[in-house]
Amino acid sequence: MENTIKAIVEKYDSNKGFLVPVLQDVQKELNYLPREALDLVSKFLKVSISQVFEVATFYKAFSLEPRGKYQMALCQGTACHVRGVPLIVDHIERTLEIKDGETTEDLMYTFETVNCLGACALGPVMVVNEEYHGKMTIAKTDKLLKKLGKEGNA
Ligand code: FES
Repeated sequence: MENTIKAIVEKYDSNKGFLVPVLQDVQKELNYLPREALDLVSKFLKVSISQVFEVATFYKAFSLEPRGKYQMALCQGTACHVRGVPLIVDHIERTLEIKDGETTEDLMYTFETVNCLGACALGPVMVVNEEYHGKMTIAKTDKLLKKLGKEGNA
């Protein structure tokens, strides 16, 4: 992990002002911000660990808990809700054996419900690693999980 963090920090010329983008890159690489990574960022960027923590806990986009390789965000805004989102939530929770906001033990999936994603006409909408999937149904969810499962194990 040390070399990975060092390379990221060096990409930003070890400039303290780039703490946020450094943490973004670390999270992209590791899917979350483990304590060891924060210590290394603090060391290489010469920023105190308390400052690193402050930033890492301030932004909702950062996670100090392990996240899945596939991060699934299902919209439960009104337009999506009335088109069957509660059934899809139930289905995903039962299929992956996790609750809203949790990550599977094998670190393949993190599932969470979110507020309106701004694509109501396509509802129900699910975003998987920044890719939008519209008009979701239980059947489409199954198909998607199957595809991700294959990709993830490839
Ligand atoms: S309510 Fe789901 S995208 Fe707007």
